Amino acid sequence: MNKFFSRIFEFIRTYPGVFYSIFLIIFLPLLLFWNTFFIVSKFEKISNEILQTKALFLENTISIFASELLDQPNLLQEKIEKLLQVNPEVKYLRIVKKEGEDFKILNSFKREEIGAVLDDPALVFSWSQNQNIASLIFSPDKSERLWKIVSPVFRNGEKVALISLSLSLKKTDQLIEQSVFNAFFITILGTLVSLFLVFQHTTLFGYVILSQKLKEIDRAKDEFLRMATHELQSPIANIRGYLAELKERLGERLSPQEKEDFEKVEISSRNLVNLIEDLLEVSRIEEGRLDFTPTKLNLEKELSQLILEFERRAKEKNLELYFERPSPEIFIKANPFRFREIMTNLLENAIKYTFKGFVKVATKVDQIKKKCYIFVIDTGIGISAQAQKKLFQKFFREKKRETAGIHGTGLGLWITKEIVEKMGGEIFVESIEGQGSKFIVSLPLFSQR
Ligand SMILES: Nc1ncnc2c1ncn2[C@@H]1O[C@H](COP(=O)(O)OP(=O)(O)OP(=O)(O)O)[C@@H](O)[C@H]1O
Ligand SMILES: [Mg+2]
Repeated sequence: MNKFFSRIFEFIRTYPGVFYSIFLIIFLPLLLFWNTFFIVSKFEKISNEILQTKALFLENTISIFASELLDQPNLLQEKIEKLLQVNPEVKYLRIVKKEGEDFKILNSFKREEIGAVLDDPALVFSWSQNQNIASLIFSPDKSERLWKIVSPVFRNGEKVALISLSLSLKKTDQLIEQSVFNAFFITILGTLVSLFLVFQHTTLFGYVILSQKLKEIDRAKDEFLRMATHELQSPIANIRGYLAELKERLGERLSPQEKEDFEKVEISSRNLVNLIEDLLEVSRIEEGRLDFTPTKLNLEKELSQLILEFERRAKEKNLELYFERPSPEIFIKANPFRFREIMTNLLENAIKYTFKGFVKVATKVDQIKKKCYIFVIDTGIGISAQAQKKLFQKFFREKKRETAGIHGTGLGLWITKEIVEKMGGEIFVESIEGQGSKFIVSLPLFSQR
C-alpha cells in the first residue's frame, strides 16, 4: 500500500500537470456546484424566514388595534387600508367573526368582501384551538407561494375575532429563480471552461512526457558527443604527427601533385582538429567546466599580442590589418584565456570572410557605464539581415555562394557570445551584405573597488 502511494506521489512530482488536470476535471466543477447549491438554499431559507417574520409582525400589529377597534369597523377599516398601502405583498387581510357556525368577514382591505361568509378549515381550527396557524401554501391558481396566517384576537381575555392574513412570496421566488439561473449559468460556464482547460492540458500531458524524454535524449546525445570527441582527440593527433613526419622524410622527393595532396590532407585534418576543439569547448561551457575567473587585463597589451599573431594570416590574404591602439592605461576585467578566445574567434572570422580590403580592431571606453567596447571591423562578404538574427545560434552558418568553399563548424560565435556574457559583457553585430561587418563586444572596465 505504501509503495502504491509513494508511486502516486512520485508520478505527481514528475508530472505536476497531471495532478493539476485531475483537480480541474473533478474538483473544480464539484466545488462550483456545491457552492451554488449552498448559496441558493441558504438564500431561500433566509428569505422565507424574513417573510414569515414579517407576516407574524403584521398579524401582531393588526391584532392589537383589531381588539381595540372591533366596535368601530370604519376606523378599523381605515387602519387596515393604511397598513396595506406600505405592504404590497399582502394578498388578503381579513378580520373574521364567528356567527353561529359560520365565519363572516368584518373587515377586509377588499371592501367588496365585507359581509361574506368563509368556509376555511384553518379558521375552524384556529378558533377551536385558540392557536396561531402559519403555513406555506400555493395560491389557488398555483402561480405563487403564500404565507398564510390565522390567529385569534382577544379582548379582556375573551376571543372576539380571527385575523386571516396571507403574504405573497412571489417577489422573493422571482429573485431566487433569477439567482439560481445566474448561479447555474456561471457554474456551467465555469465547468465548460475548466473542461476546455483540461482538454488543452491533456494534450499537454503528451508534450510534458515528450519533452522529458527529449531532454534525456539530448543529455545522452551530449554525453555521447563529448565522449566521442574526446576519443577522437588522440587518433587525430597521431594522424597529424605521422603526416608531418612522413612529409619531412619524403621531403623533396614528392612530386608537385603529391605535395598538393599532402596539403589537402593537412587542411582536412586541421579542420577536424578545429571541430573537435569547438565541440569540446561547447561541452565545457555547458557543463560549467570553463574557468572565467577575471583578472586585471591591460587592453593595449593583450590586443597588440593578438594583432601580431594575425598579421601573417592577413598578409596571406592580401588584407590590411589595422589596429587603433588604445591608451595603455585602460584595464579590463576579464579572464585572459577567455578574452583571447573571444578575439581569436572574431579576428578569425573577419579574415576568413573578407577577400579584399581590410580588417580593423578599434576600442572605445565609456567611463560612466564602466565599459570598454572593442570593435572588429571588416570589409568582407557581410551578413544578411535574416542571418544576423540566427548568427549566435549553435551550428549556424550562412549558406551562400561566397561561403561555399569556406570551412567552419558554426560554433565559433555561439562560444564567443557565451563567454562574453559569462564575463558580464555583450556582443552585437552590424553588417551590410557585400560591404562588411562590424562585431562589437562590450566588457566591464577593471575598477579598484
Ligand atoms: N566577419 C564575418 N563576415 C561575414 N560573415 C560572418 C562573419 N563572421 C561570421 N559570419 C557568418 O556567421 C557564421 C557563423 O560564424 P561562426 O564563427 O559561428 O562559425 P564558422 O566561422 O562558420 O565556424 P567556426 O566554428 O569554425 O568559427 C559563419 O558561417 C558566417 O556565415
Ligand atoms: Mg568562426
